[in-house]
Amino acid sequence: MTKVLVSDPIDQTGIDILSQVAQVDVRTGLPPAELKAIIGDYDALMIRSGTQVTADIIEAATKLRIIGRAGVGVDNVDVPAATKRGVIVVNSPEGNTIAAAEHALALMLSLSRHVPHAHASTMAGGWDRKTYVGNELYKKKLGVVGLGKIGSHVARVAKAMGMDVMAYDPFISVERAQQLQVRLMALPALFAEADYVSLHLPRTPETENLVNAELLATMKPTARIVNCARGGIVDEAALAEAVQNGVIGGAALDVYAKEPLAADSPLRGVAQRLILTPHLGASTEEAQENVAVDVAEQIRDVLLGLPARSAVNIPGLTPEVMEQLKPHLQLAETLGLLLSQLAGGDVEQLEVRLQGEFASHPSQPLVVAALKGLLSAALGDSINYVNATLEAKARGIHVVEVKDDASRDFAGGSLQLSSTGSKGNHSVTGAVFADGDLRITTIDEFPVNVTPSRHMLFTRHRDMPGIIGNLGTVLGEHNVNIASMQVGRRIVRGDAVMVLSLDDPIPASLLATIHAINGIQESHPVTL
Ligand code: NAD
Ligand code: MLT
Repeated sequence: MTKVLVSDPIDQTGIDILSQVAQVDVRTGLPPAELKAIIGDYDALMIRSGTQVTADIIEAATKLRIIGRAGVGVDNVDVPAATKRGVIVVNSPEGNTIAAAEHALALMLSLSRHVPHAHASTMAGGWDRKTYVGNELYKKKLGVVGLGKIGSHVARVAKAMGMDVMAYDPFISVERAQQLQVRLMALPALFAEADYVSLHLPRTPETENLVNAELLATMKPTARIVNCARGGIVDEAALAEAVQNGVIGGAALDVYAKEPLAADSPLRGVAQRLILTPHLGASTEEAQENVAVDVAEQIRDVLLGLPARSAVNIPGLTPEVMEQLKPHLQLAETLGLLLSQLAGGDVEQLEVRLQGEFASHPSQPLVVAALKGLLSAALGDSINYVNATLEAKARGIHVVEVKDDASRDFAGGSLQLSSTGSKGNHSVTGAVFADGDLRITTIDEFPVNVTPSRHMLFTRHRDMPGIIGNLGTVLGEHNVNIASMQVGRRIVRGDAVMVLSLDDPIPASLLATIHAINGIQESHPVTL
């Protein structure tokens, strides 16, 4: 008998769908040890954000074929551990978009009219019509940070309410912003100008503590900030202090670095102008039904041997083809990630060129893998093989696929990705060697021979004496250890590239110093 465990509260419509194909056991609030003890009996697990599906649980889940997360974020699932065990992880990328956007708007309105504090005062017997004089949103400047699905809906509604909407999203094209009638701006200018800031970006290593004391200090003293995205993007202690001391006009949070919010969080000590809700963004009846149906249908399909439409960890390929193509997919994804960091912003066109032997492989998964790499800096964990094409289309990225089977550059062929974007054109080529090793073989048409590593630095520079030594000295002085270095040039003392594999990441504060080295024209730190 096929069995599904539902370990968080899920809308009944989802349970009815699962019951068509399996025995469904609803057991919510299980302690981890108990979940571990019973998970071995189940073919599928359906969760929300409460259940932590750790590597330990996945290891005990010997029959498990699929984990369904009724929501967007899969932060509570160890996806690499699931992938390793061949367990499909699916989510619902759009089921709660409207709910989360409306919650952000509700918080914005509540902040501007002091709704919770006025309510509490009235309930306590008061009739205070002076303290709670508010502001209108009409004609105020709203800065949306992250103009994806939720941010776009917030922008549309805010426009309809007469707000002047600006946005910061380094991965969104100018055309997309124009369609939404939103001005794209740099982050510091947005924070300095905004009357309201609403955050709608993922939590990634780059966005952690993005909103810190320094940035808050640049805001207007009347400005208000709303975070309905992910905890950890805002430094909570700095925010509590900024609201308490009147550095900013107020804030509303739905999400926290650690959930549930600690009893002694400094946020709980702020008496006025701060609104806290317990991660309610997706908590509407409609959204809960949407995500439950979306995910239950996918679990049902996978249990019936059909593909899932929103798998976060596998493309729609047979396991055999996946196994054979693994290093090629890995190369495509690595090159995509590298290219996005060289491009440094929006990409309007991506050309995927399969050369020589590479042209004999199915191109669609390689294109998807390249797009996944290209978009992962922008979308973090939410980008996957299934949604990469859709997300690229939504961002207006035009994809061109070229097969050149006449090319004879490497025995196994090569893959070249070229981007066209607002900050210029870039290209990278790579190959898979016979032992499965990946190599980067050209960067912006300069020949190199580099194994991708986690931390790298690419420069464009003029080939001249002293430049390599100067760069080495600067890195050495800042304790950045160089593992390997390569120089590619076409002509002596002409344009050249340098590729460094590093043991340590380059501190952001060092970039200006590197850029100031005589002869260096461009420098790009890269994390793969
Ligand atoms: P999305 O992927 O559609 O949009 C995210 C946008 O952020 C993308 O356009 C991306 O380009 C942009 N982005 C990435 N890095 C950025 C950066 N450093 N600076 C500025 N922009 C950046 O995602 P979505 O569905 O709109 O979700 C947005 C956020 O809301 C996510 O963090 C998601 O987990 C969260 N969420 C919260 C709730 C809730 O209950 N509070 C519900 C649903 C989603
Ligand atoms: C999500 O990731 O979908 C939201 O944070 C809402 C949730 O499911 O808790």
